Amino acid sequence: MLGLLAACGGGDDGSSASSAADNQDGAEQETQAAAADPLNIDPALLPEGVTVAMVEEGRELFTGGGFCHSCHMEDATGGPLAPDLTDETWLNVDGEYASIVEVIKTGVAQPIEALGSMLPRAGMALTDEQVDALAAYAYMLSRM
Ligand code: HEC
Repeated sequence: MLGLLAACGGGDDGSSASSAADNQDGAEQETQAAAADPLNIDPALLPEGVTVAMVEEGRELFTGGGFCHSCHMEDATGGPLAPDLTDETWLNVDGEYASIVEVIKTGVAQPIEALGSMLPRAGMALTDEQVDALAAYAYMLSRM
């Protein structure tokens, strides 16, 4: 019973702080407001060592400091320069979390389908922690 109750109310508990912030910023509609939309994450699907907070940080980095959206697009569905990360098809990795961390660190010098390559860490000054967060986001994209 408790499990059911938690499942129903669940999403809101952890993010009540950001919901409150949402209400206050509602009128402004800045990019920050969009980034504060709660993600639809099933914690049961998270790989070992990955938290909801990491996925959320990864989402912010994806269109922010990681600049991943410049090739993978804002919604990560890809284009001529980079593949769709929201589907279940993987080109250079097996789709496991560790393989995604690895490919973000190494980049893809010889792409399979895309017209251009991907630099290690996309050429950005990303810490290992930030790469882990981006990989967490990329891993969960096809699962939410
Ligand atoms: C300059 C364009 C570019 C940027 C910027 C870029 N990527 Fe990529 N990405 C690619 C290309 C090209 C591939 C390989 C596609 C292929 O093999 O056809 C790729 C592949 C990937 C893959 C493996 C997908 C697969 O199916 O094998 C992941 C994960 C990924 N990128 C994540 C990221 C993340 C996270 C960032 C931001 C830190 C990022 N990319 C920034 C171009 C880019």
